[in-house]
Amino acid sequence: MTANELRSKYIEFFKSKNHAEISGQSLIPENDPSVLFTTAGMHPLVPYLLGEKHPGGTRLTDYQKCVRTGDIDEVGDPSHLTCFEMLGNWSLGDYFKKESIAFSYEFLTSEKWLGLDPRKISVTVFAGDENAPRDEEAAGYWKENGMPEDKIAYLPASDNWWAAGPTGPCGPDTEIFYWVGEGLPPEGSNKGTDSANWMEIWNNVFMQYNRVDEKTLVPLPKKNVDTGMGLERTNCILQGKTSVYLTEVFQPIIGKIEELSDYSYGTDAEKDKSVRIIADHSRASVFILGDQKGVSPSNVGAGYVLRRLIRRAVRHGMKLGIEKEFLAEIADVVIGNFKAAYPELEANAEKIRKELTAEENKFRVTLKNGEAEFRRLLPNLLKNPKKEISGKVAFRLYDTFGFPVELTQELGAENGMTVDLEGFKEAEKKHQEASKSLDAGKAKGGLAEQSDTTTKYHTATHLLQQALVEVLGNQVAQKGSNINNERMRFDFTFERPMTKEEIQKVEDIVNEKIKEDLPVTMEIKTLDEAKAEGARALFSSKYGESVKVYTIGRDAKSDWFSKEVCGGPHVQHTAQIGVFKIEKEQSSSAGVRRIRATISGGLPLDPQ
Ligand code: ALA
Repeated sequence: MTANELRSKYIEFFKSKNHAEISGQSLIPENDPSVLFTTAGMHPLVPYLLGEKHPGGTRLTDYQKCVRTGDIDEVGDPSHLTCFEMLGNWSLGDYFKKESIAFSYEFLTSEKWLGLDPRKISVTVFAGDENAPRDEEAAGYWKENGMPEDKIAYLPASDNWWAAGPTGPCGPDTEIFYWVGEGLPPEGSNKGTDSANWMEIWNNVFMQYNRVDEKTLVPLPKKNVDTGMGLERTNCILQGKTSVYLTEVFQPIIGKIEELSDYSYGTDAEKDKSVRIIADHSRASVFILGDQKGVSPSNVGAGYVLRRLIRRAVRHGMKLGIEKEFLAEIADVVIGNFKAAYPELEANAEKIRKELTAEENKFRVTLKNGEAEFRRLLPNLLKNPKKEISGKVAFRLYDTFGFPVELTQELGAENGMTVDLEGFKEAEKKHQEASKSLDAGKAKGGLAEQSDTTTKYHTATHLLQQALVEVLGNQVAQKGSNINNERMRFDFTFERPMTKEEIQKVEDIVNEKIKEDLPVTMEIKTLDEAKAEGARALFSSKYGESVKVYTIGRDAKSDWFSKEVCGGPHVQHTAQIGVFKIEKEQSSSAGVRRIRATISGGLPLDPQ
């Protein structure tokens, strides 16, 4: 079986169990200030897990591209990936533990589906704590399906409680593992007794709580199931391989790296690591650049992560002796490999190539400047009798000039000097701690906070977008938005700064529409129907898939101001928004402007 077949089989299986297939979404979360990337299949579904009605019904399935960058520096071992695919199925207040466990077991072990050896499968369930009881219920259903008692490990919340962020939907989970050790697992072996040889392939979360703050768990109106299966890992075990990099998901990319570097994978441990880093980072960069929401390298947020991924790939390319520009060539292989499942990659192929090459060249210039700075500092450095370059200097070269510490070491060695690596790491750690606390401040409110204020901001973005089109013309297209409880940010395509008059006019239109107190209504339609009615859609979807269309206006057919395909939620009528004010209009990146705006006052939302 290949990864493509596994993806199709998974969707087909859940369709046969009456799940609607929905489209995976952008890698850049909508209206979620707490994370930079979509980190799990459930991420775009948060509003629905909290109780919003989903247009596809109560049983859903999809595949979702995800990026997790928490451990970016750990990538390079045989199993960590920054970019991966998650196969998922959801019950929104429909079935619960019994069916979820039965579905998973059938899909994994039935000859008709994956046909995995049940003897090589073990599970974990939640051991219980002050938040929720020991999950005897889930364990009982596993036993009903034939799972022996000793293959069920009861583990604490650190293992078996899942949440996407500090707040939001969460609950106990049951995780499914596959034996990757030699032969068959010994009698009585499970994740609790042998952590190394059991690899997690699937996680079924029983989402029955909403965490509103550190201390408070509120039961959700409905009990949901959220599952996620790692596509690359499951594909790897199905093929009996020891590493995801040895499967057809990565082999063509690795083949290209071998060709470019004239190095054969599998002959040198250090170089193999570089190959894996290039393979992972170039794939992740292609997915981020090729996303429907189109991120570009920059010094903040998702753009900064992208920049680090690209630069790290270039560095490791240099380590392998690749001297010329090479990322665009690898990108072609990635695009070819994944375009069937992710057509946006092919649609954005030109942009991907262009931006990769530009960033690669920029980095080479950075390296040159870093080296010049090093040479400027050198006479002074040489005065140190210990012939040691301090960690502080090495870190400043890295932080200010983007100059990697390995290169400082190399240049130092050429001049008979060493680098205080401990000191470098200390400086780096101090810096990371500082930025982590910044991040934590930014994440205040958490992933899923759907407070009234953010809902008001959300509707205000719809008004703003339409007002911009009316004042600036049809070339205005949304490039992204970001909302928290204090402000909104809205990025859109436009070639020049707006004039004072234009800014005032846009603000006036939005405030006028708020004063008119227009109703906000929602209808469920197919994407094509929505587009035919003139709705804006920043959205790709499966043919015939149902979507939500939000209309702001007196009449959704004949008298409306704004119409957008969007997940919601929104205010019920515009006077709830309050007074709208544009605080700032500035450049965001080439051809993209950014507006920061605030709202204040406004009527309370109606109770749901
Ligand atoms: N949301 C769960 C996870 O990512 C399924 O593991």
